[in-house]
Order: sequence, then structure tokens, then C-alpha cells
Amino acid sequence: MISSKLPNIGTSIFAKMSKLAADHNAINLSHGFPDFDCHPVLTELVTKYMREAKNQYAPMPGVFELRQAIARKNKELYGHTYDVEKEVTVTAGATQGIYTVISAFIKEDDEVIVFEPAYDSYTPAIKMNGGKPVYVQLQHPNYSINWNAVKRSINSRTRMIILNSPHNPTGAVLKKEDVDALNKLVNGSQIIVLSDEVYEHIIFDGKIHHSLAAFPKLAERTIILSSFGKTYHTTGWKMGYCLAPATLMSEIRKIHQFMVFSANTPIQYAYAEFMQQKHHYEELGAFYQQKRDFFVSLFKGSKFKTLKSSGTYFQLVDYSQVSKERDTDFADRLTIENKVASIPVSVFYHQSVDRKVLRFCFAKSEDTMSEAVKRLREIE
Ligand SMILES: Cc1ncc(COP(=O)(O)O)c(C=O)c1O
Repeated sequence: MISSKLPNIGTSIFAKMSKLAADHNAINLSHGFPDFDCHPVLTELVTKYMREAKNQYAPMPGVFELRQAIARKNKELYGHTYDVEKEVTVTAGATQGIYTVISAFIKEDDEVIVFEPAYDSYTPAIKMNGGKPVYVQLQHPNYSINWNAVKRSINSRTRMIILNSPHNPTGAVLKKEDVDALNKLVNGSQIIVLSDEVYEHIIFDGKIHHSLAAFPKLAERTIILSSFGKTYHTTGWKMGYCLAPATLMSEIRKIHQFMVFSANTPIQYAYAEFMQQKHHYEELGAFYQQKRDFFVSLFKGSKFKTLKSSGTYFQLVDYSQVSKERDTDFADRLTIENKVASIPVSVFYHQSVDRKVLRFCFAKSEDTMSEAVKRLREIE
């Protein structure tokens, strides 16, 4: 008999809810991906580079032109210059980046601070490397960070803090005061920061994305992850990147080279060229804000209460006036009976905190959103 290395981890909720949605022919607002296609020029570029025989292994850290485009974008947006040779690595999605970074730095008994509700890939990566996740709850209902609680959780074994802004599943975004509080806490310590910024361009209401790259003291100890999938409506291509100071990046690449060696070559060339047209990422926030506003408007006058989403393509909805069922049961019932799939937010906590809130993905056409909310409202 084998003894599982992750005995308490089952199939991801995204796979579970998507299967339930397919089995019951439900509208799937559970898993976070667009129901519209990426820009046709991007697929043409991939084809072009395939035809130009860019079909063999890329250099281990990534195609030079793409690393250059990434570094240029970061300089322009956040004012930090990452060295193209030593401080930028292209990954097979942010997920691979997260696993690689955690593997590079977390040893037996190291503690890692994780804010809950949390995206589900952090904890397994920490545990697989012998580390211990230390959970700090974000403050419901605005899901802000209680920095005093973070301070109380830090001790001599704390090796890493994982931040995610804009935040999945809540849509909360870091404020300048949060960055200042973080800086104060880690200054002079051995703690490194993993900053998951995959939704960096999906931010609303005139708010600005506070990339940790923009804060020189913090940038010295921070590893940033981003995802081309979120920015260019290409989640299925599984492409992302990692930025870090050279001393940290050299450790990250030791793992990266044996995990994947390098990421998809023709797609890297295509992104490098497509990134020259900045309006695609500059306009993304407005594009999704319109979708968020439309989705939220569909709930007007209903017993479902939408919480504030300041970024990402997720909207939390409080159903406590509609049902007292556990969120997992309610989400299953909505999928099976009302034919709309969502994610119950309790699953983003290690000890299932049920606040009667569901997460919906609004990266969908208006018709799909309208039909989904119409079906949901039939339950009221
Ligand atoms: C917060 C967060 N980090 C990382 C990822 C993974 O990104 P990728 O699809 O590039 O692996 C996701 C995807 O949903 C996410 O929501």
C-alpha cells in the first residue's frame, strides 16, 4: 500500500464543481476562465511562429524577447527595472511558478503565512516541501488584512508570507497602507514575500494595483508571479512569469530547470510581439469592470447580496437571506436544481469557514450572466 504524501487533499473544488456543472448541464460560473476567445491576432502570431519553426526548446529562463517585454512593462508600470538575464523567468503558468518558488525556499518546519480564504495551490506546495502553513483570516466582509494578527503569527521560523492582490476569491485589493504595514513587519527579518499578482491588470473603480515591485525595499525580498492566461484570455495555454532579485532567482531557476526546463516556445514569441500593443492590458480593467457592473446589476432588488469586488473576475454573493444551508450544500443544490455552478467560499479555508458566501466568475458573455442570475433568482 502506498502512503499518501498529501492524505488530506482531495480533487480540487474547481474540477469537482466543473464536473457537477457538466453532469447537470448547468451554467458554469465556478471555474475562473472566460467564455469568450482570445484576440485573433494572438492565435495568428502563435501560428506564425510555429510556421517559422520556433518549435524546439526555449532557453531555460524563457525567450529573450519575451523577458525583455516583461521587464519593459514592469519598468513602465511599476518603476522597477528587473535584469532581463537574471531576474525574469517565464513559467508554465503561475501555478508552476508558485510551486517552484515554494520548493526553492521552504524547508522542513519552515512556516509560511497564508491569508484565508486562499487560492488553493499554496498549501499543498508548502506541505509537499515539509513546511507549515500558518493561516491568518482576512476580515469579513471586506476581506482586509489584520496586520496585528500577522504580527502575532510571525516567529523565528517564519520564512515566507504569501500575498495575493487582486485577491482570488474575494476581489479585495491591497492598499498603500497594507504595503507600508508589510514593509514594517518584514524589514530587518529573513522573511521573503511571494506576491501572487496574476490579476494585476484586472482592477476597478480607479484603484491602482500596488505591485510590490513598486516598493524598492520590499522588492529586494519579493518574488512576483503573474499569468498571461488572465491578461490575454488564454488560461488554457498555461503561461506565466516570475520576477525576483537575482540572488533569489538563481535559487528559483535551480528548481525550474528540473521541473519543466522551459515553457512553450512559439507562444512565448507570440506574447513578446503582442505585448507591444499595450492597450490590450491597459484596457483590461475597464473591460472587466463593465462585466462586474452588469453582473452586480442583475441582483438588484433580490435577496442575494453582492459584496464589493475591486479586482479579479470574481464576484462574491452572500445568500444568507435566501437559505441557511451550508455553502457547500447550497452550491451543489444550485448546480443540480437551478443549473448554475459556483464555488462555495468555505473551501478556500483549511477549516471550512462558512459565511454563506458563493464565488461566481463573471468572465462571461452578458447572455450567460443574465440567464444564470435569472435561474438563481428563481430560488428566492
Ligand atoms: C490567485 C491565483 N494565482 C495563480 C493562478 C494560476 O494561474 P495560471 O493559470 O497561470 O497557472 C490562479 C488561477 O486561477 C489564481 O487565481
